[in-house]
Amino acid sequence: MGRSNISHLRPAGFDTFWFGVCYYPEHWDAETRALDAERMAAAGVNVVRMGEFAWDLMERVEGVYDFSLFDETIAHLARHGIKTIFCTPTAAPPRWLTVQHPEILRQDRLNTELKHGSRQHADYSHPTFREYSRRITEVLAEHYKDNTAVIGWQTDNEIYCHFSDDHSPATRAAFIAFLKEKYAGDIVALNRAWGTAFWAQTYGSFEEIDTPYENRPTYPNPSQQLDYARFLSETVARFQHEQIALLRAANAGWFITHNGVMSKTDYRGLFTQDLDVLGYDVYPFFDTNPTSRPCSHAFGLDRVRAFSGNFIVPEHQAAAGGQAPYFHNAPEPGEMRLFTYRSIARGADSVLYFRWRTCRFGAEIYWCGILDHDNVPRRRYAELSQIGGELKRVGPALLGTSVRVEVAFAEGDYAATEAHLTYPLGLPSEGTAAVWSHRWFFERGYAVGCVHPADNLDGVKLYIIPHWTVFDPAWVPALERFVERGGVLVIGARTASRTLDNQVTAETLPGCLAKLAGVTVEEYGRQNKGDLRPQKLQLGETEVESADWYEVLGLQGAEALATWTTRHLVGLPAISHRKVGRGHVLYVGTYFCNGALFDALWPVAGKLAGVSPQLVEHPAGIEVVVREKAGVELWFMLNRNETATRVPHPPLGQDLVTGTTVDGPCEIEASGVRVVVQRR
Ligand code: GAL
Repeated sequence: MGRSNISHLRPAGFDTFWFGVCYYPEHWDAETRALDAERMAAAGVNVVRMGEFAWDLMERVEGVYDFSLFDETIAHLARHGIKTIFCTPTAAPPRWLTVQHPEILRQDRLNTELKHGSRQHADYSHPTFREYSRRITEVLAEHYKDNTAVIGWQTDNEIYCHFSDDHSPATRAAFIAFLKEKYAGDIVALNRAWGTAFWAQTYGSFEEIDTPYENRPTYPNPSQQLDYARFLSETVARFQHEQIALLRAANAGWFITHNGVMSKTDYRGLFTQDLDVLGYDVYPFFDTNPTSRPCSHAFGLDRVRAFSGNFIVPEHQAAAGGQAPYFHNAPEPGEMRLFTYRSIARGADSVLYFRWRTCRFGAEIYWCGILDHDNVPRRRYAELSQIGGELKRVGPALLGTSVRVEVAFAEGDYAATEAHLTYPLGLPSEGTAAVWSHRWFFERGYAVGCVHPADNLDGVKLYIIPHWTVFDPAWVPALERFVERGGVLVIGARTASRTLDNQVTAETLPGCLAKLAGVTVEEYGRQNKGDLRPQKLQLGETEVESADWYEVLGLQGAEALATWTTRHLVGLPAISHRKVGRGHVLYVGTYFCNGALFDALWPVAGKLAGVSPQLVEHPAGIEVVVREKAGVELWFMLNRNETATRVPHPPLGQDLVTGTTVDGPCEIEASGVRVVVQRR
């Protein structure tokens, strides 16, 4: 099932660039729907996604199925050359099911039962809900197995997008079963792994264990919390696995995706290994700051590739989004197109917009689509058509390519992310530190991305691990080889300070990385507010005020690259450098959170690694990404400036967007895009 060769370099495997919209025929009468297929096809749409919230319509009464609306819609779209991705509708079980089986409702941390009336209220671990999930999936799979217009499936919808914890009796029982399996029935092993000697937590049997409750009354055990996070992920992976088995048994030719990326799911684990391609819903306007938005959007895309390579975007923001408490700014003319190309440049192998038409009722009446409530095509439809026309040329060229990455941030590890959440200490997360650091390289046009430490590091020259407290010693040999062969490894403070059980390691820090880095951590602490007791370090010519965290390094084969210059730290090593084989290891005894540090540190690391911006004289506001496969490079240049921008040294070749040739310095219009093909 699925594909287990998970790597950031993996293309999605489609033979077509799917370009489409999320479609909800159940929201509209026949008269309103009449022109939909024709209009979609005219805009270049070749796929729609549907069905994810329509279980109530498909099965109005238990066991009585009616798919006629969908059958007719699928057939009508197919006559216009548009295929369908159908969804298992389990994100919103019908009312008759929760009336009949109230025990399938999830419970929050106050053990309050969730209610029918929105979505995601059913318990993924409840055997009864699982049975109903399998049943509707099987009936749908059987119904559509010979329908050639249905090309693939999305499982459920954004699992855990609203919240993930569940403390229902069924979940507790499933948690106990998960732990029994993990610890092979050995309660002593669990007590050891969780350190239950602290605060009298020792368990006599697995049956005594509960799900961890935050603030009831106070802090829970971080080892228990990490196992609970693993359990929540395992639960939805198994839930999805059952649906996927049924879909594949009906038609092995379908591709299967899920639209993430949310919380409490290990997207490098079984959940994604079961899929043909991971889906990533892209909503850049959740970052309400237009200055950081391009970077947060880009980082999100790079991070998703660290899970499993190129992806499909089952939902791409097309317009202003609003749910009851908020309403995004509207993308200005050209912005939807610019976002789309950013998503494609950084790994989207297909894109569907959310949604075709703004719904007039329900909880998302202001979540706008391509068409407005009144069904009148306006500028968003025109922009869709423009992109659709361009992708007829760009799309086929993208198939089979992957994104070039020379500077990579370690990302995509479930335990690393979850461990921070169990014990944040008021510090930025490893992900936040990566976002800020990534931005420095992104703004300057480096080939920056994200790669998991267990992944293929070929092509990566500079690899940066930002503060991963939980760090698997099994990754170290590959990192050693990476450095021996000439790579530069930068390790952020606190990395490898905890075991896989989320206990502090017994080894001197940085634990399993101490030998490779050639340092020991002799003292550490949270940094005071800079204005009270500034802690500064000297790196080359620059004195930098650092932030959040300090470490004093003992040099065990490394040399000091930077030393502390203030308070009781004066003269002590802050950043170390060790030459290993043809490469280098830097250990940074502070947090990656500070522009001044980046300006001093990243040029040094970049120079050691031999990386530089991809364009000579990189113009500010131009984003550059290369997608490549054997013999072909596609150079994306995106101008996010509000004015035309001159690129003095662009790649030369045919531009697939405009159909013209770039044969020298070129000017890209405001919000303009070029995709230049170079053959080697
Ligand atoms: C996604 C979700 C959609 C819709 C959209 C806009 O998170 O999958 O169903 O809710 O956001 O809010």
